[in-house]
Amino acid sequence: MTSNTNRKKVSLLDLQAKKQRGEPITMLTAYDYTGALLVDRAEIDTILVGDSLGMVVMGLDSTVPVTMDEMLHHCRAVARGATYAHLIGDMPFMSYQADVSEAVRNAGRMLKEGHVDSIKLEGGREMAATVRAIVAAGIAVMGHIGLTPQSLSKLGGFRAQGRTAEAARRLLDDALALEDAGCYAIVLEAVPAPVAAEISRRLRIPTIGIGAGPGCDGQVLVFHDILGLYDRLQPRFVKEYAQLQQPILDAFVAYREDTVHHRFPTAEHSFSMNAEELEAFQKSLEE
Ligand code: KIV
Repeated sequence: MTSNTNRKKVSLLDLQAKKQRGEPITMLTAYDYTGALLVDRAEIDTILVGDSLGMVVMGLDSTVPVTMDEMLHHCRAVARGATYAHLIGDMPFMSYQADVSEAVRNAGRMLKEGHVDSIKLEGGREMAATVRAIVAAGIAVMGHIGLTPQSLSKLGGFRAQGRTAEAARRLLDDALALEDAGCYAIVLEAVPAPVAAEISRRLRIPTIGIGAGPGCDGQVLVFHDILGLYDRLQPRFVKEYAQLQQPILDAFVAYREDTVHHRFPTAEHSFSMNAEELEAFQKSLEE
């Protein structure tokens, strides 16, 4: 396993420099300390505590019910393990949509209570004023357009966006509006590859794709998806780099079998006691 204990934390300047050098930026989600340690040791550039935790950690059908307190709880855990990667906290649904000052206050909570380095929010030009206000408060913002899971009610389902000329043009305008408002990067989710490539070419800031093809400046995947741990239907853009469900299940079954057949624990997993103390203990029981 790679160790990066001596490496300095990835900064926004590092991400911008990678775009300029044409070097892909890597990003993975994580939701707890142990997961964050592993992602961090793999020298992934950025960790996102995504509101996808509602689905992969909490078993919900969408990200919509996730709350600020749930996000903060997971952000704090991940922050303890992420000493190298730039850490991003996802703003949950209705923590920033209703009112700009509430958005600024909640973004501030992400940094002060969640210990993240920057925040991410969903939406295009309609979010420009909110992004401006959060950035003006000194908080770096990552945008997220294309398939925005918090707008499931409006989008009518998880499906690719920007597939007509007009919709593609709207996406580009959204991306430019977010860049102009001060975003340091933008996630493009489920967008046709040529549209994502064109947006990436036209922006000064990096784009991070998920289901948006190879023309983005970086890629992001969900922790449980790349490890083959999530058992619901996967979108076609997910690549499983390991199938860990079966080995984990095998370990749990082996533990159950060992326990019920008295093979675990053995002496090597138990504490011994001084023979005299044990005898004294047993004698005390007879009195
Ligand atoms: O919540 C999440 O995991 C995300 C990524 C898919 C970008 O927003």
